[in-house]
Amino acid sequence: MHATESDPFAELAANVAKPFTAATAMPPSVYTSDAFLAAELEHVFKHDWFCAGRASSLPEPGDYTTLELAGQPIMVVRDRGGELRAHSNVCLHRMSTLLHGRGNTRRITCPYHAWTYDLQGNLVGAPAMGQNESFCKTGMQLPTVRCETWQGWIMVTLNADAAPVHEALAEVDSLVGDYDMGAYVETFYETHVWDTNWKVLAENFMESYHLPVCHAGTIGGLSKLEEMVCPPGLSAFNYHTILKDDTLKIALAHENNTRLTGDRRRTTYLLAIYPSLLITLTPGYFWYLSLHPEGVGRVRIGFGGGMSPDYVNDPESQHHFAELKALLDRVNVEDRGCTEKVYRGLCAELAKPGPLSHLERPNYDFAHYLAGRVRAAS
Ligand code: FES
Ligand SMILES: [Fe+2]
Repeated sequence: MHATESDPFAELAANVAKPFTAATAMPPSVYTSDAFLAAELEHVFKHDWFCAGRASSLPEPGDYTTLELAGQPIMVVRDRGGELRAHSNVCLHRMSTLLHGRGNTRRITCPYHAWTYDLQGNLVGAPAMGQNESFCKTGMQLPTVRCETWQGWIMVTLNADAAPVHEALAEVDSLVGDYDMGAYVETFYETHVWDTNWKVLAENFMESYHLPVCHAGTIGGLSKLEEMVCPPGLSAFNYHTILKDDTLKIALAHENNTRLTGDRRRTTYLLAIYPSLLITLTPGYFWYLSLHPEGVGRVRIGFGGGMSPDYVNDPESQHHFAELKALLDRVNVEDRGCTEKVYRGLCAELAKPGPLSHLERPNYDFAHYLAGRVRAAS
């Protein structure tokens, strides 16, 4: 809890009651309160679709990835028929977690007593269980978790009533359908943990106001505040756009790309899909963060990216992308510094949220989304 024992729910409600022209940053308590984090897990992370990575990174039967969503360990596995399926990643015996990290396997074997499951989560083997008369492995299956693929993203949800992801995110399709993001191919994926609240990092992504300063050592010089466009957000996401010049060739549409015309050939979309899928989408490459809280002051980060199909098979582009990845790593060091400083600052007793720039419109919309989710719950 924040040092003043303030009420984060009431403070956030008061914060979002202000019009955008008088907007201020969210109150410190929403970042530091354990009660608010519990509400986020229950009403945000258990409610909305969460990104588990790119489908292109699990191409073969038996390829799997694991994650934890609101306390629930989940595995996503490509089965023999080529379907991606998600299951509870908890053994049906004494409840060990089963798979860890990413990899490929023919069978899922528990690391504790070797109960074994097929790729559809059916129990197919359990040693030395013949004398327990209540045990019958037939019909025993790991609980399923909803998993759908949209625009190449693996999306999972614990909410049985959530709208199908292509409906929930139809407005993203309308906005950037001509980029054909679903065909982009992931070429790297990493996980990180930073010492900041997940929303501080999400909000950092939502505004490019910080680029010239926080990123003065890397991309700051290329960032023009006057070329940033920050429209009002929509119900499931917010976005803003920036224009790229030809400093980085793969940020521009490939010559074979006839879908994008005019300024769209050099327009980068920064999409913040609620709650925590943050995508930088350029005509030639993409990178993304998928965030999950690990306590109030730590965030678990899935960080991946790759190229559009017209660049991905070109050896020269591979080289350009390797340079870009090295640049992104340096940019991330800068973002880590800034977001960890913000978290330290907002924990201070004298911290007070200040007014927002028009370039922080997405942050204002994010606060409204969050307030709506936790308010609906109370
Ligand atoms: S807990 Fe999995 S086999 Fe015992
Ligand atoms: Fe940044």
